[in-house]
Amino acid sequence: MLLRFLIFAVLLTAFTATCKRVEFPPPYEPECLVGKEDPFDETKSYEVPWFDVDLDAPAKERWKHVVRPFKNEILAVFDVLAEFFTIIPGIPIWDLLSNITRDAMEKGMIMQPYRDEVEGIAEELGCDLGHLTFLNLFYEMSRFCTSIVAQTADNKDLYHARNLDFGQFFMWNIQSKTWDLSESLKRVTINVNFNRGGKLLFKASTLAGHVGALTAMMPYRFSLSMNAKVEPDLREVIAWYNGNRPNVDFVMYFDRWLFENCDSFECAHDMISKKQFLSGAYFILGGNQTGQGTVMVRNRTDVQFERKLFDGDNDWFVLQTNYDVPEKDPLYLDDRQDPGERCMRAMGPNGVSLSGIYTVLSSKPTLNLTTVHTILMSVTKNIFMAFLQKCPQPCWAF
Ligand SMILES: *[C@@H]1O[C@H](CO)[C@@H](O)[C@H](O)[C@H]1NC(C)=O
Ligand SMILES: *[C@@H]1O[C@H](CO)[C@@H](O)[C@H](O)[C@H]1NC(C)=O
Ligand SMILES: *[C@@H]1O[C@H](CO)[C@@H](O)[C@H](O)[C@H]1NC(C)=O
Ligand SMILES: *[C@@H]1O[C@H](CO)[C@@H](O)[C@H](O)[C@H]1NC(C)=O
Repeated sequence: MLLRFLIFAVLLTAFTATCKRVEFPPPYEPECLVGKEDPFDETKSYEVPWFDVDLDAPAKERWKHVVRPFKNEILAVFDVLAEFFTIIPGIPIWDLLSNITRDAMEKGMIMQPYRDEVEGIAEELGCDLGHLTFLNLFYEMSRFCTSIVAQTADNKDLYHARNLDFGQFFMWNIQSKTWDLSESLKRVTINVNFNRGGKLLFKASTLAGHVGALTAMMPYRFSLSMNAKVEPDLREVIAWYNGNRPNVDFVMYFDRWLFENCDSFECAHDMISKKQFLSGAYFILGGNQTGQGTVMVRNRTDVQFERKLFDGDNDWFVLQTNYDVPEKDPLYLDDRQDPGERCMRAMGPNGVSLSGIYTVLSSKPTLNLTTVHTILMSVTKNIFMAFLQKCPQPCWAF
């Protein structure tokens, strides 16, 4: 029991120190590239491979062909975590995590079909099931930042984009001046066509070995990205580990579930409002019609707050990161202070396009050393592209 608490104390430290607003001395001034440089190059999106996952296939078989070519890269992610968890000398935290996670799984605490899918992947990789399951939960608990929905000036098209950030405080590599975890995650970034009945149902981006959807879009219907909150509800995770939260959903599995069960913005909005989650999150939802862009701030039980396009103070875009302003109510969203927001305003509504939004998301510090990839989507144009990111030095560490 004592050991368990020790482990959670370590997790808590690892997860809560991340992604806070930090003041940096020069030369670390924000640098908005709008009007200076156009880093967008569509061909770079070809680096991220596409796979088909057939939702009609048996759950254990669905992912085998996807993870097979990534075996070494996924095991490399495990290595980074295993090394990080040597943080307390003499206590085999990484092994213990495997044991208690496998325990939870055996008690049926991971819902189907995700459980069978994870088991099938562990079988294919020949890796430890507890560690693989932990990795799936770990993605749930960690931070991913900046999402944007923007409408074009002619009111015809919507773009939805996000930077996925991950790996703060996990093994700084002194030689290359990068985060080992962020770097290892770039190598497992993949796109997936989820098919049902022989047809495409939705497109998503994920990390090989993870069976949820991190960013997803149903062509001509709706798009979704989820940003974690700065303070994860770790007490809830502990309660879950102890078997006391039998009926809650993991948000990232929920994202996938949503695309398997909804085919409209309205349905998705409704479901996001109603579900009980293990942790709070920001859901950034886009639709196929003018004005259908919204940020829903969820705690475990309710929608706490919602910001929509063209609503009140909001304008032709909504932008959400995952840090809150210190000293303020956690719900106080002072985005005007955000460099990403300022860069969007510098671009203006006439600049809303793939290259315009990519330029904003490639500007420092919205782009920083934890940025794993950038996703660009347009529901109305059926575009879904993923770009591996690299932040040129000097660059913010997170
Ligand atoms: C994990 O479980 C295995 C098998 O039950 C056991 O042999 C091992 O000692 C456990 N490891 C730790 C660190 O508790
Ligand atoms: C937009 O989505 C709605 C469902 O919300 C659907 O009925 C409609 O056909 C879609 N429009 C287009 C142009 O696909
Ligand atoms: C979630 O937010 C709602 C609305 O602000 C509030 O009434 C509720 O108590 C919150 N729930 C938790 C678990 O904090
Ligand atoms: C690093 O990037 C993320 C995602 O774009 C952003 O939320 C975070 O605020 C950035 N860091 C800084 C110091 O701005």
